[in-house]
Amino acid sequence: MANTPLTADDNVIDYLAAHERKGLMRFITCGSVDDGKSTLIGRLLYDSKLLYDDQLAALESDTKKHGTQGEKIDFALLVDGLAAEREQGITIDVAYRFFSTEKRKFIVADTPGHEQYTRNMATGASTADLAVILIDARRGVLTQTRRHSYIASLLGIRHVVVAVNKMDLVGYSEKTFREIESAYRAFAEPLGFQSTAIMPLSALDGDNIITKSPYTPWYNGAALMPYLETVNVREEQGDKPLRMPVQWVNRPDLDFRGFAGTIASGTARPGDEIVVLPSAKRSKVARIVTMDGDMQQASADMAVTLTLEDEIDVSRGDIICAGKAPTEQTDQFAAHLLWMAEEKLFPGRQYLLKTANRIVPATITALKHKVNVNTLEHMSGKTLELNEVGFCNFNLSQPIAFDPYADNRRTGSFILIDKRTNATIGAGMIDFSLRRAQNVHWQDLDINKTARANAKHQRPCVLWFTGLSGSGKSTVANLVEKRLHDLGRHTYTLDGDNVRHGLNKDLGFTDADRVENIRRVAESAKLMADAGLIVCVSFISPFQSERRMARELLEDGEFVEVYISTPLEVCEQRDVKGLYAKARRGEIKNFTGIDSAYEAPQSAEIDVDTSNIPAADAADAIVEYLQGKGYLEG
Ligand code: ADX
Repeated sequence: MANTPLTADDNVIDYLAAHERKGLMRFITCGSVDDGKSTLIGRLLYDSKLLYDDQLAALESDTKKHGTQGEKIDFALLVDGLAAEREQGITIDVAYRFFSTEKRKFIVADTPGHEQYTRNMATGASTADLAVILIDARRGVLTQTRRHSYIASLLGIRHVVVAVNKMDLVGYSEKTFREIESAYRAFAEPLGFQSTAIMPLSALDGDNIITKSPYTPWYNGAALMPYLETVNVREEQGDKPLRMPVQWVNRPDLDFRGFAGTIASGTARPGDEIVVLPSAKRSKVARIVTMDGDMQQASADMAVTLTLEDEIDVSRGDIICAGKAPTEQTDQFAAHLLWMAEEKLFPGRQYLLKTANRIVPATITALKHKVNVNTLEHMSGKTLELNEVGFCNFNLSQPIAFDPYADNRRTGSFILIDKRTNATIGAGMIDFSLRRAQNVHWQDLDINKTARANAKHQRPCVLWFTGLSGSGKSTVANLVEKRLHDLGRHTYTLDGDNVRHGLNKDLGFTDADRVENIRRVAESAKLMADAGLIVCVSFISPFQSERRMARELLEDGEFVEVYISTPLEVCEQRDVKGLYAKARRGEIKNFTGIDSAYEAPQSAEIDVDTSNIPAADAADAIVEYLQGKGYLEG
């Protein structure tokens, strides 16, 4: 708790109550290794007298061992707790620290300044009310200052303190400070922060940290700590409409059915009208149940269980909303996306999108523009790389309930997850729903797939041939189609080289283009299966993700993966089109197997190596497989 000792005269109850009511402010600090960020946080903790004696003793002895500040206490040691960090002299992850003064409680997320760690900053920023952005007075506004400011604004932070640190090293020069101040204001203007306080500091010497420094008489603003204690940052979550994502349904017996979750925004009172999304069922709040008894009102951040007046269906993942102001629902929206993976973003690839309450498959249908975080300019681009920000259109396989991020940071944000590795690869902020989603509906057709297939007396399927260039895919696919045709089956073959002369004429061989190539072909194959055909698809299709996407587009059992596993050496030796030789000479870039990856299938239905078995025999084996599985009956 705080630093005021209790005296016998104090009314303990009042004292504790005052503490309970103290507001909480969350802030992040951003700056580079050398800006003195850790020293600043250490200084705040130290000067707010929150260090215990044993921590202080340890700090003093650490200072002697590792310190870089001579006789002065090295506050950075207090913060850079990890041994590895000390050795490298950098801070590498988000660290949350709690401290409190008489006026306020604080949670500070200390985020690293290194460029590749922007994702950590995003993690810290998404819940912060304010950002303290450090600038080294000797170096002024840098690329990373701009980057941090942009990401803070993107993640909904409305209040900024620019800490112009190390003023002692520039002789407390007002001129230097004013130059930095005007450069920062000019850059940050379009970011629209509600408050921007720019302060001359020396974290090491304690200037303008707790009290005003005698060395900066020309500075009229507040010292940092008093400012942090009083700046008004409270976004009134209570003024927003009720949102409560349901985490679980609590049903201990037949008489009780409660919906447990943490209120994301707004308030709930017994008698309030609510609507549950996505079902749009309506009811009223009956009780607000907690461990400590029923409440008459619950507000943002409280974990509660609501019971409703009516028996309506509510499941985990639904959102309970204010009856008069429900969230929107959509399966297509535009959002800003911060890319956090080493692997590039591929428009067209299927990822998992996780909101406050749901996980749904999603693809980016268009990268509208990228944002240059240094200049805030919009740039065109086909992909996003680590730490880049883009404005994208998303398409989901099911609708989600959401609010625009500007209205609600909790129900307007999401993360993207790689289906294969389960890693978080992006953080998104939803801007708006795409209206075309509401205006395009499914049209019911009288003649359906079954009718079309029955007329052809066959079961539609897609034989997906994948393998290196020259492996024999097209040769085998061609023979299979011939055999099926001879058997009176209705077929079609989609071949890479041919489709690239028409539908996919605009695509090359970058990873991103191959993803789009396969997405289009998979959609085409799906239409052909819907037409009742047996389709042979013969594309290198080097990535597991897209082959899986194709499989998932089709009904169970309709997708038959045929891996033509002829080894690279054999393909290269054959070199029917002379392309391997060109690739080896460097005349073709991104050639599969040479300087572009091929991810072999893990569980193909059929595996054929044409260096072991003649193409004709391979084709026979595939047709036999189809016969054996009943594809050719009808
Ligand atoms: S895929 O990787 O996007 O699936 P696709 O099957 O459409 O490739 O096209 C492969 C064909 O394009 C190859 O058989 C070859 O004839 C030709 N080609 C031209 N350049 C390349 C390249 N860089 N990598 C692979 N194939 C190429």
